Amino acid sequence: MRRPLIAGNWKLNLLRAGAVDLVAALRSGLAGEKRCEVLVCPPFTALGAVAEALKGSEIAVGGQDCYWAESGAFTGEVAPSMLADAGCRYVLVGHSERRQFFGETDESVGKKLRAAQKAGLEPVVCVGERLEERERGVTQETVGRQLDGALGGLSKEDVLKLTLAYEPVWAIGTGKVATPAQAQEVHAFIRARLAKLAGDAAAREVRILYGGSVNPENIRGLMDQADVNGALVGGASLKAESFVKIVRH
Ligand code: PGA
Repeated sequence: MRRPLIAGNWKLNLLRAGAVDLVAALRSGLAGEKRCEVLVCPPFTALGAVAEALKGSEIAVGGQDCYWAESGAFTGEVAPSMLADAGCRYVLVGHSERRQFFGETDESVGKKLRAAQKAGLEPVVCVGERLEERERGVTQETVGRQLDGALGGLSKEDVLKLTLAYEPVWAIGTGKVATPAQAQEVHAFIRARLAKLAGDAAAREVRILYGGSVNPENIRGLMDQADVNGALVGGASLKAESFVKIVRH
């Protein structure tokens, strides 16, 4: 198992100056951090400045989305190789806000993650059920369908290079974090599904992050779960103090 990953998803926040200030504070606050790998995902316009400010540090940079084509007449889109060129090692794919507001489907998530891997990026593939799906008791069915739809047909080698993020939609930005037991239950389900796709050994290697209202107070209980291998943090990643505390939990 690789090192746990703590990722900050900045969403639609921060101009370049604020972004550079934030990573400068993270750089000093996280100096010497060995236990967890750290990732920040700024908006596209700040990627270059953030990558420059993080040169020589171990904090990785990622995009929040990408397109699947490498070039062409696709106004407004950004190719995986452009993210790599801007200094990214990772890219988020299939975040629930992309699914909810921008028409992302399991099929487009699958195309994006493949294109990202082809360009040498490490995709962080996000899945998770809506409140209504949890209340109807179809959480596993929903997450299973998202996984099969996006990951079906990937080679074992490519599954091994993935990171997954379980983000229950009802926990994102709401302050309603999943309990550690709720998170563990779905993480274990995801790992079993990965084992079906790629075998037990590969499934054991894949990091599964939890996301949704993670903060310095609740991180430890989540990370204590056997199948929780890191966190995808939104709101609490915009302040150096809280993000550093989450990483150093
Ligand atoms: P949140 O967002 O931590 O603000 O709930 C998490 C995410 O959307 O990745």
